[in-house]
Amino acid sequence: MLDSKSVELVKSTIPTLKTHGEEVTKYFYKDMFERYPQVQSMFDMEKQKNGKQPKALAKAVLNAAMHIENLDEIRSSINVIAHTHVKLNVREEHYPIVGECLLKAIKVVLGDSATHEILEAWEKAYREIARFYIAIEKQLYAKKDN
Ligand code: HEM
Repeated sequence: MLDSKSVELVKSTIPTLKTHGEEVTKYFYKDMFERYPQVQSMFDMEKQKNGKQPKALAKAVLNAAMHIENLDEIRSSINVIAHTHVKLNVREEHYPIVGECLLKAIKVVLGDSATHEILEAWEKAYREIARFYIAIEKQLYAKKDN
């Protein structure tokens, strides 16, 4: 469970991050593909070009952050995403990469208002979200492997 102070801090940044959603997403993918080319091959670059899919990841993280006190509320939507991930072989070890790049994008977009406290709260929130996804995906992989 995320502490209430962190929940408050994370939630306070969501409206700004939503307003600048495209900026967050653009920065996020460019940075991630540059620094971690090994994950780029997992993504459908045609979808990146038409701009449809790229928005999904950052949007889903923001949605999860809004429900951070009870991720179970959005379990069914996370389930759908988890199935896509498992099909594409997204693994536990990929989550820190996405987390690091997302945090960097948040920092860039929030600019001066991204205090140390806020970034720390986001780091904790992402860890919770990733844990939730990974647990669901673990079950799906177990079913698949049997
Ligand atoms: C908590 C973290 C994450 C969230 C919230 C998230 C969210 C999403 C969403 C919403 C989609 C679209 C799903 C669909 O269309 O059914 C998606 C697809 C995808 N995700 Fe994730 N994801 C996360 C972590 C990761 C990680 C760690 C990787 C691996 C680097 C990854 C790789 C992908 C790929 C390759 C796709 C398909 C995109 C395409 O077809 O181009 N995701 N993710």
